[in-house]
Amino acid sequence: MSTPGPTSPTIPISRRAFVARSAAAAAGIVVSDALPQQTLRAAETAGAATTATGPFQTMGTRAGEVTESTAIVWTRLTARPTRNNEGKPVAQRTQGEPKRAKGESRVTVPVDQLEGACPGAPGRVRLRYSTREDLADAVTTEPLAANADSDFICEFKLSNLQPGTLYHYSSEPLATDGSPAGTPFRGRFQTAPAPGAPGNLRFCVMTCQGYADRGHPDGHAIYPAMHALNPHFTCLTGDLVYYDANDVVATNERLARYHWERMFSLPRLVQFNSQNSTYWLKDDHDTLSNDSGPGAQLGDLTFAQGQKIFRQQAPMHDDAPPYRTVRWGRDLQVWFTEGRDFRSKNKSPDGPTKTIWGAEQKAWFKRTVAESSATWKILVSPTPLVGPDRANKRDNHSNVGFQNEGDELRSWIRDNTHSNFFVITGDRHWQYHSVHPETGVHEFSAGPASDEHASGSPGENPKVHKFHRVRGGFLSVTLAPPDSKESKSRILFEHRDVNGTVVYSWSSERPV
Ligand SMILES: [Fe+2]
Repeated sequence: MSTPGPTSPTIPISRRAFVARSAAAAAGIVVSDALPQQTLRAAETAGAATTATGPFQTMGTRAGEVTESTAIVWTRLTARPTRNNEGKPVAQRTQGEPKRAKGESRVTVPVDQLEGACPGAPGRVRLRYSTREDLADAVTTEPLAANADSDFICEFKLSNLQPGTLYHYSSEPLATDGSPAGTPFRGRFQTAPAPGAPGNLRFCVMTCQGYADRGHPDGHAIYPAMHALNPHFTCLTGDLVYYDANDVVATNERLARYHWERMFSLPRLVQFNSQNSTYWLKDDHDTLSNDSGPGAQLGDLTFAQGQKIFRQQAPMHDDAPPYRTVRWGRDLQVWFTEGRDFRSKNKSPDGPTKTIWGAEQKAWFKRTVAESSATWKILVSPTPLVGPDRANKRDNHSNVGFQNEGDELRSWIRDNTHSNFFVITGDRHWQYHSVHPETGVHEFSAGPASDEHASGSPGENPKVHKFHRVRGGFLSVTLAPPDSKESKSRILFEHRDVNGTVVYSWSSERPV
């Protein structure tokens, strides 16, 4: 396979330097320590030539659903060159203040006037993409129309890409006559290697990012930390916004979209998502509300509206099942499951028909895992299969409320995989490595995106936990031949703190 993205420095970015870069990123100029000077000059020139000409792309771009030959590049046209940094701040509940009533909204000004808002703008936009940084031989897509019906979001579905290759692109707004108008935005992504190619690669998994408790005004520290590791791809594993738990409560569609605007226009998130291949999974809080499922409601916001908004905000197909699997070379296949759309009611009595995944997803999972020839098989799940979790919870497969399906899945994994299958979970606000006592299934919890967001563990349990830490961070997974022995593959799981420092590691080896 080809070399991954350019080598990134691991030196922390100073606050002053970050502010300078944040301003450039907000103006539609992607800058990165990982980008060579040539790209920086091109981006600066592009920005300078079109300064203050809208529409803009204040939320940056996202590349998702990457395979060896396809990808989706997402953008959203915006009316202003920067997020509304001077907007009305949203008051956050203090610790002593009673919880606000469900559905209560304290918005007293138009949403566009709130801090972090990024009102959309109609227009047309095209994508030019190439394996060359200077885009000299770029393929140019047909233009797409951004309008209010799709929240001014456009998604370019790219095909016929080369495997194991770094692609560069420019997302370019157009005037009605097809000439460039507005401010272009530069990004890049990496395609998966061909199924036969050795899987020497690294990926990251993150989850659960609050807004008020993000730990830094420009966004969570995990973003520059993950970027510095130069991952081939990253999984954003649910609870990417908190409609119900972060003020203002998203009691309607406009407020729900505002949650995405203020979070994903933060400079660190803009930079990361425009520079990395990503896969997006939803959970309860970024669909609707805590432990929610079909039929739930938050003020005027319905579960169905929450499903639709997530599909728009995430760079993913709207005409395919939300559960999917992707092969990354000879040695890795990853499954991404959907935990909200098909679930039984949490309060229903447990039994053989009570489900989180639904019959179709379960059959798909068992069939595709059994068929896979990958050296390593990893399930990235928005909620845990092993836990342990708090005794009063009844939302996931580690809780007694879903014990039947949990036992079914854990037993199936034990009986149909060969010590080469691992679960990585989002959702839980602490990091852990657990091994299920009865079935031996391994589960790694990525942990919350900031230290301020960490809590909730039932405590360390030596019968299950190999590692347990109630702090923020993320997980990285690295595949490489051990000691350059090409006849073997080594998988290395590393829990990292919010700055990327390894706090726990565990590895396994298999012949290839
Ligand atoms: Fe969460």
